[in-house]
Amino acid sequence: MKAFFSYTLPLVMLCCACSGPRSAATLQINPYEYTIQKKIIGSNGAVTSAHPLASETGVSIMKQGGNAIDAAIATQLALAVVYPGAGNIGGGGFTVMRLSNGTNITIDYREKAPARAHRDMYLDKQGNAQTALSQNGHLAAGVPGTVAGLFGCMKYAKLPFTKLIQPAIDLAENGFVITESEAHDLNRTRDAFIKYNTVTPVFVKAGGWKAGDTLVQKDLANTLKRIRDKGMAGFYEGETARLIVEEMKRANGIINYDDLKNYQAKEREPVVFDYKSYKIITMPLPSSGGVLLPQMMQMIEDQPVKAYGFLSARAVQLMTEIERRAYADRAKFLGDLDFYKVPVKKLTSKAYAVERMKDYNDQTAGSSETTGAGLIPESEETTHFSVYDKSGNAVSVTTTLNGGYGSRTVVGGAGFLLNNEMDDFSIKPGVPNMYGAVGADANAIAPGKRMLSSMTPTIVLKDNKPFLVVGTPGGTTITTSVFQTLINILEFDMSTEDAVNKPKFHHQWLPDEIFVEAAFPQPVREQLRQMGYKVTQRGAIGRTEVIRIDANGTIEAVADKRGDDSAAGY
Ligand code: DON
Repeated sequence: MKAFFSYTLPLVMLCCACSGPRSAATLQINPYEYTIQKKIIGSNGAVTSAHPLASETGVSIMKQGGNAIDAAIATQLALAVVYPGAGNIGGGGFTVMRLSNGTNITIDYREKAPARAHRDMYLDKQGNAQTALSQNGHLAAGVPGTVAGLFGCMKYAKLPFTKLIQPAIDLAENGFVITESEAHDLNRTRDAFIKYNTVTPVFVKAGGWKAGDTLVQKDLANTLKRIRDKGMAGFYEGETARLIVEEMKRANGIINYDDLKNYQAKEREPVVFDYKSYKIITMPLPSSGGVLLPQMMQMIEDQPVKAYGFLSARAVQLMTEIERRAYADRAKFLGDLDFYKVPVKKLTSKAYAVERMKDYNDQTAGSSETTGAGLIPESEETTHFSVYDKSGNAVSVTTTLNGGYGSRTVVGGAGFLLNNEMDDFSIKPGVPNMYGAVGADANAIAPGKRMLSSMTPTIVLKDNKPFLVVGTPGGTTITTSVFQTLINILEFDMSTEDAVNKPKFHHQWLPDEIFVEAAFPQPVREQLRQMGYKVTQRGAIGRTEVIRIDANGTIEAVADKRGDDSAAGY
């Protein structure tokens, strides 16, 4: 008999003194009964992700002898089933790894513009931007990269792929019980699912969804089986490719067979920089985080932020002015390095960070009209998970369909959602995308080009060993959330839970406003307004997943309270 999932918030029975399992968690994966755990402490391995079944899948793979990379592959595939709003095989993402032998690896499987894409494809005859087309339906989709990314990771895995994908196949084929928030999200998206599909997807249910219903995805299970049996060709060629191209033809899509066959994930040189005694490893372009995070950390490094105190008006003002400067550079300079010359070295140098802060005034609000991009002499849905194993492998993965359920278009007969990542390009200079980000030439559309991303999967080393594995979804707020989480731990000495869950804020140059979460203190808002800032309350910022590894080998995994996010470990 199927039982509803149950919540235990927060997890009781935490213990650091003994070894072995330390939580009351059900460790076997039962898709009809599972527990959301916000914090877990172990000594063998841990996963924290947007869904308990995905975190438990990753841990079960480690228990069967897999390393953190095996667990990350299995977790991502499970997320593609149990978290359809963002977990995906029809989207893309970034993986940052620190291997136990001390090697740093990044894998870029960001979507690409199809060959038939062109710079002005979302402009009407009068030259007006048509964001409805870059954000919804078939034409919004970039060529998916996730499956290529998973096979890019296999080089570092121990177990066969067939074993890593099987839990996802089982979850899709037999179904799993959905949570209240999933039911709510599916119901809220119902009209869009009907509008943007030619074949009604399983996500539309007569009478609507409720918590405890079972979601079965047979078409997706069959697609996953083709990937299991044929590898990358099971997605980019043959039956799955045929289904994608047929879907494109039924509406106004442009992805063709060659786009799919030619898609390749890329290993890229990781961004590694020092922050005081720590080393920080993060994703390079096309992640803007690879430029913005080193910029922001270097701008704050010499400032007395710790003395100001967490969420003091002075600390928030300082961090806001830092974010303003970094995001102004994002809008002007950043795009796919394979297509556009970005002055990365200059933008991420300490000297440039110091120069950018010269006009910082700690008494009054700066202005995005007067603070533009620096002078260079030369030319809500994404998901993050963190994994760690006891041999010292750390994996930080952020992956996305872009908006919730992406383009809302499901490939007929193949059961997976396509991304709406084309909207992350600058479809017209100065026209904001769905996260309010503006861009220019650097991020203009071109065939085969990757759109600029904010996804910032990151690993922090202490004494040259993994200390933090961190990342979050949240569109343009991703980089500021990672920045703030790091400062919370490295400067404000916060517990991991507080660093994740305490209120966050965000400034992205344009619009010239500080966005704050509901729990952001009213008196601080008032002080900031008196300095001249516009302060605007918005919904939740990010869903940050952190694993912290202490020198004694304790592995602490924390899942953000802002969603169904759940940690697992042993
Ligand atoms: O790559 C990016 O920056 C966006 N597509 C991320 C979207 C996102 O985080 C939505 N999540 N809430």
